[in-house]
Amino acid sequence: MEKKKQVQRIFDSISQRYDFLNHLLSGGVDFYWRRKALKLSKMNSETKLLDVACGTGDFAIAAKKLGVKSIIGVDLSLNMLKLFNQKTDWSKGKLVESVAETMPFKDSSFTNITVAFGVRNFYDIAEGFNSFHRILSENGKATILEFRLPSNIVVRKFYLFYFKNILPLVGKIISKDKEAYTYLPESVDDFDAKVDLKKLLLEAGFKSVTVTQLTFGIVQIAIAEK
Ligand SMILES: C[S@@+](CC[C@H](N)C(=O)[O-])C[C@H]1O[C@@H](n2cnc3c(N)ncnc32)[C@H](O)[C@@H]1O
Repeated sequence: MEKKKQVQRIFDSISQRYDFLNHLLSGGVDFYWRRKALKLSKMNSETKLLDVACGTGDFAIAAKKLGVKSIIGVDLSLNMLKLFNQKTDWSKGKLVESVAETMPFKDSSFTNITVAFGVRNFYDIAEGFNSFHRILSENGKATILEFRLPSNIVVRKFYLFYFKNILPLVGKIISKDKEAYTYLPESVDDFDAKVDLKKLLLEAGFKSVTVTQLTFGIVQIAIAEK
């Protein structure tokens, strides 16, 4: 199946269980990762934020708690967006059903873009980053939070065991979607071997990129400045 359709099917299917599984499988540390990424991005009340692959909204909601007032969320899964809508009292027009690769926004219309655990699902990452660069204003920032394979051999062994055995099993039982939680470890493996976030962001035209690793190197935050 085409990647876009496969990803859309998976997230439409697991949307009801997504939040619960996300916090369970990460032991709740995902809240800390999102907050840390937002703090490193130095947003404030003047920020105009676009949260791409926003899903059920946890990154956007965390940004709002930190004082960001103008936030729009984009996702290709309608079911994920519906849950985002149920979790907040945000007015209409703030959530847009779209793929990251071709978004319906004018050039230079946002000061910040965020993506948490979404980039590895894009069907064309380079195209996604080109569109980020286009719609960010001058000196605007894209903040990408994503898993990575830890370089420490011991941590890597534990991580891969967890990702390939425990996570798919728990995910399958709770979400009742077998493909969804085998797709996740495959996508992390594949992503790490093939994707260099910094290189791709520089190729899309960003002038600088800083990468920070968290939690034994299992997660990375890339911040790119236009
Ligand atoms: C793992 S979830 C992350 C959701 C949220 N950012 C969070 O931190 O919980 C990944 C999200 O990316 C969305 N997604 C995947 N590919 C996409 C694309 N090409 N364009 C827009 N959204 C996409 C999925 O529908 C899903 O909601």
